[in-house]
Parts: sequence; C-alpha cells; structure tokens
Amino acid sequence: MQAEKQHTHKKHGFTGQIGFVMAAAGSAVGVGNLWRFPYLAAKDGGGLFILVYLILTFTFGFTLLTSDIAIGRKTGKNSIKAYGAMHPRWKFLGIVTFLVPALIMTYYAVIGGWILRYIAVYLAGQGQAAAADSFFTDFITSPGQSSLCAVLFMVLTAWIVFNGVEKGIEKYSKVLMPVMLVMITAIAVFALTLRHIGDDGVTRTGLQGLMVYLTPSFEGLTLKRFLQILLDAMSQIFFSLSVSMGIMITYGSYIKKDVDLNSSIHQIEFFDTGVALLAGIMIIPSIFVFEGVEGMKAGPGLMFVSLPKVFASMHVMGRLVGLAFFIMAAFAALTSCVSVLETITANCMEIFHTRRKPTTIVLTLIYTAASVIVALGYSFFYVEIPLPNGSVGQILDLMDYISNSFMMPFISMLSAILIGWVIGPSWITEEIEQGGRTFGMKYLYAVMIRYIVPVIMFILFLQSTGILNF
Ligand code: PHE
Repeated sequence: MQAEKQHTHKKHGFTGQIGFVMAAAGSAVGVGNLWRFPYLAAKDGGGLFILVYLILTFTFGFTLLTSDIAIGRKTGKNSIKAYGAMHPRWKFLGIVTFLVPALIMTYYAVIGGWILRYIAVYLAGQGQAAAADSFFTDFITSPGQSSLCAVLFMVLTAWIVFNGVEKGIEKYSKVLMPVMLVMITAIAVFALTLRHIGDDGVTRTGLQGLMVYLTPSFEGLTLKRFLQILLDAMSQIFFSLSVSMGIMITYGSYIKKDVDLNSSIHQIEFFDTGVALLAGIMIIPSIFVFEGVEGMKAGPGLMFVSLPKVFASMHVMGRLVGLAFFIMAAFAALTSCVSVLETITANCMEIFHTRRKPTTIVLTLIYTAASVIVALGYSFFYVEIPLPNGSVGQILDLMDYISNSFMMPFISMLSAILIGWVIGPSWITEEIEQGGRTFGMKYLYAVMIRYIVPVIMFILFLQSTGILNF
C-alpha cells in the first residue's frame, strides 16, 4: 500500500556526474582507441601524430563534444527533435544525425562478435591456432560462427539497454569502465617489460618499443604529408569521442541540471585520450619486440591478426595476456555498442511515444537481422565495393564509410554553422554556465565553432567524397 505513493513522472537519467562521465567515456572508449589509434600513430610518425592528436582533442574535439552535450541537456531531447527545437528549419539535420547510429548499429555488434570469438579462443587455450595467418579470415568467412558471435554480442547489448539508463547503462558502465582501465594499464606495463631475441639475432625490448612510439619522426615530412596526418587525427577524434552522431546529445539529455558540464567534458576527454595512449603503449612495444618495426604496418589487421601472433610468442603468459586483452576489448566495445543502441531506442521512443522495453525488443530483432546480414557479408553476401578513398570493401566497410567518413564531417559542418551563425555560440555557452558555473574556454569555443570547425569539416567532407585527394 505504502509503496504506491511514490509515483512520479520524472524523465529517467543518470544519477550524477560520475554516472554520466562513465557512460559517456564508455561510449567514447571503444575499438577505435584500441586498434585505430595505435595503428595511426605507427603510420603517421609516432610522437608527431600524438602531439597533433592531443592539440586537436583539446581544441577541436572539445568543441564538438561540448556542442553535443549542451544541445542534449538544454533541449532534453534526442537528435531528431533536438535540432528542431534549436531551429524549426534545421530539423532535417536531426534526421540526418539519427541515420549515423542507425547505420553503425548494423555492423558494430559484428565486430563485438569477433572479439567474443577470440575470448573463447584464449579460454580454450587455442592461442597457437589463432596465430595462424588464415585464422581470422577463416573465422569471418564461416557463416555460422560469425553470425552466432554477432547475435550473442547483440543480445548482451540489448540486455543493458532494455534495463534502462540508470539500472542498465549507468550501472554497467560504472563497473566495466574502471575494470577495463585497470586491465589495460596492467597489460601496458607488462608490455614494457618484454624482451625478445628475434630471428635476426637482435634483442628488442619493450622500452625501445616505447621510444619508437613516442619519438616524433619528421622523416620525409612534407606539407602534403603533414596535412594527411592532420586529417587522420581529425577523423580519428570524432570517431573516438562519438561526436556528431547524436549519441552525446542523447546522453546529454539524461544529465541533471546541477551537474558541472565543463568538468565532465574534460574528464571524458582525459579518459578517452588516456585509453588511446595506453593502447599505444601496450600494442606498439609488443609488436616491436616480437616482429620489429615492420610488424606495425599491419593496419586494420593489427588487433585480430598481429596481436594473436604476439601472444603466441609469449608462450604460457600469452594465454593469460591474450584473454585479458580480449575481455578488456569486449568491455570497451560493449559500452560503445550500448550507446549506439540507446540512441536509436531513445529517438524511437520519443517519436513513436512508445515505452522502453517493447521499443528495445523490436529494435533488437531488426538489428539482429541486420547484423547477421553484415556478418554474412564475408561469405554468402560477399561483394567487392569500390570506395572513394581507393580501397575495396565488403558490406561492413561500406556501412562504416558512409556513416563515419562521409556523414560525420557533413553533420559537424552543418551543426557548427547552425550554432556559430544561426543561433549563436552563446546558446551553448549559457548552458555550460548554468547555475553560475565557469566556462574557461568560452572564447576558444566561440572561435572554433564559427570559423575553424566549418572550414576543416568542409575539407574533410571533400576528401571523403574523393573530390579532394591527398
Ligand atoms: N567511440 C568509439 C571508439 O572509439 C567508436 C564508436 C563510434 C562507438 C560510434 C559507438 C558509436 O571506438
């Protein structure tokens, strides 16, 4: 009887700053930090890339993250309705923004499924088999195994979203994120202690690998090459911070008015950048020790092909480190995947006026089917699609290209124009200053959003369409 009286119609949200920061960092920290950042750092001159990346994160990444989070909290809505609330004529931008997570969701669980497969491998002690050249290809081209793993990852994601913001997303992020941070730190420290005599008789150590990672290399640096590094860093930042896809708008809409947005934003940036740097400290020295400098050019295959070879070279320890690495990667991918499904769910609930549980169930069914189709893109539905950047991809690469390379710069450019020139930067800065908080980088924000972001995004966009080619 007594329990009845507590019926309030409050919108569900994060309990406080820690819950929000952990969930947002959970979204930001993902596969991008673990393999894409180290791979780009190795390709783009080590310390030079890191330096460029750091400067851009705290200027440009900060501007985009601030915009999304403030839009979310100020309007209290998800992307589709939020842009309409900012300016009635700009509702289309909300719809375009919604399409990004809608596309990413078709393939993110497939990648999550790959990680689950490797956890199973190391649990079963099959690390040596996983080090074979064809292991990864054999796995993704086997229709049954790859679909099953994708579905499993989809179900895990759906379970968390099904339980809601506080009892699902916040609760799991608060556990998974600190655990993943401890694990990646431990593996990184371990990587620095490695030492191995290669086939060429040369002894290589983890600390030498660390120097390779951190030392800026200016070798063969031309203006053109520097621009390429700049663009690589820029597109990595958006992907890594999960900005310009409505995710941070949705998470922003769950923040209470008394939370300090300015400090939350800095904490998210530190978390995301810290994990990217740690991933580099872990991966680059390990590959350097066992495979030399050449091993680092593996690119996308780094995580699923090169690392298993490194773990195999560690013998007994390899099983443990391999297992720890993939569990940690699964946590990172899961909290990111959750943020994508949550954004789609929240938008649908808002548009169709539906409740969370049925909405999640319907979306899960749709995306399970989509994930299976994408997973089968390496077997039954194998295609070779030429992409504007000159590479050839399968369904997964196509989805990734459309959402990340093509749509995200376009969305950032338009929302910077909307904020900078139509409604004015103070629309955002007032929200950050709510309740008498200080916003130290207010002027930097205004300059970035009006002049720098639109121009750079335009260049990135031209590059993604293939019109501009470096
Ligand atoms: N931010 C994630 C990463 O760095 C990638 C991601 C993008 C996740 C979009 C979800 C949505 O890996």
